[in-house]
Amino acid sequence: MNENPLSCKDFSAIITGGAGLLGREHAVALAEIGYKVFLFDIDYERLKIAKERIEQDVPTAQIQIVKCNVSSEDEIRMAVATVRNDTHQLKCLVNNASINPVVATDEFSHSIENFDSNLWNLELSVGLTGAILMCKHFGPLIVDGGGGYILNISSDLSVISPDQRIYKVEGLSKFVKPVSYSIIKSGLIGLTRYLATYWAEHNIRVNALSPGGVENGQPQTFISNLENLIPMSRMARKNEYRGAVQFLCTEQSSYMTGQNLVIDGGRSVW
Ligand SMILES: NC(=O)c1ccc[n+]([C@@H]2O[C@H](COP(=O)([O-])OP(=O)(O)OC[C@H]3O[C@@H](n4cnc5c(N)ncnc54)[C@H](O)[C@@H]3O)[C@@H](O)[C@H]2O)c1
Repeated sequence: MNENPLSCKDFSAIITGGAGLLGREHAVALAEIGYKVFLFDIDYERLKIAKERIEQDVPTAQIQIVKCNVSSEDEIRMAVATVRNDTHQLKCLVNNASINPVVATDEFSHSIENFDSNLWNLELSVGLTGAILMCKHFGPLIVDGGGGYILNISSDLSVISPDQRIYKVEGLSKFVKPVSYSIIKSGLIGLTRYLATYWAEHNIRVNALSPGGVENGQPQTFISNLENLIPMSRMARKNEYRGAVQFLCTEQSSYMTGQNLVIDGGRSVW
């Protein structure tokens, strides 16, 4: 390990779902402390935009974009070669990709009564199977380099049930937060605990981060409904998880493994 607990300049990190809202923020956090960052995503156009924006935020950032569907083992295998052949040693994997149901203002429902097994399989293949496949293929690279960090991005909905009342807009929306989301996010906590013990002897620390909702142009009714459930009376700003990502992906958290760090403005303690 480096002497400075926050210097990771010889190391690389992978972030899945790296073209998305929070993936970019995690990348800024890791690039700021010297990691070369491999951004994995299925959306190549948005990856290019993400790289540009991260480099604007952190002029020293080394970002490499990789088009990779985390639910495809063949695509992951191809990506392994890219990461292995790089001069930086892989030290960190952030499983962040997911298919996020957006708050709809039309009559769209994910209710149990309309449960769709095709959609369920798709969502699980990204949020859970994708995370396990990434660990399967990249965990051994981290072990080979002497250990490191796996960070699973979960949600406050790993520790509380969704309050379905906040999603429903009278006359507009019958949206409910789907059961798949709760199960995927809870499942990631199980994966975190499992891998924390499984790879402890190889010096990989595995933790989860459970963010609360980030304000990002949602309908005002939804925002107000959610704010009422949060002791701090506001949703998160997208950059408010950067410090936690740096903590969990460096030796600053040297005695922490198998845990779920919940950062939710206090929502889950009310
Ligand atoms: N935004 C929030 O309010 C919030 C709150 C709590 C937890 N989270 C969690 O944080 C993570 C990031 O959320 P976000 O808001 O940035 O979501 P986002 O939708 O902006 O980003 C998700 C990214 O994953 C990518 N992706 C989807 N399927 C993929 C696949 N098969 N392979 C590779 N990439 C794929 C998408 O293209 C997208 O770029 C998610 O796990 C989400 O559940 C988000």
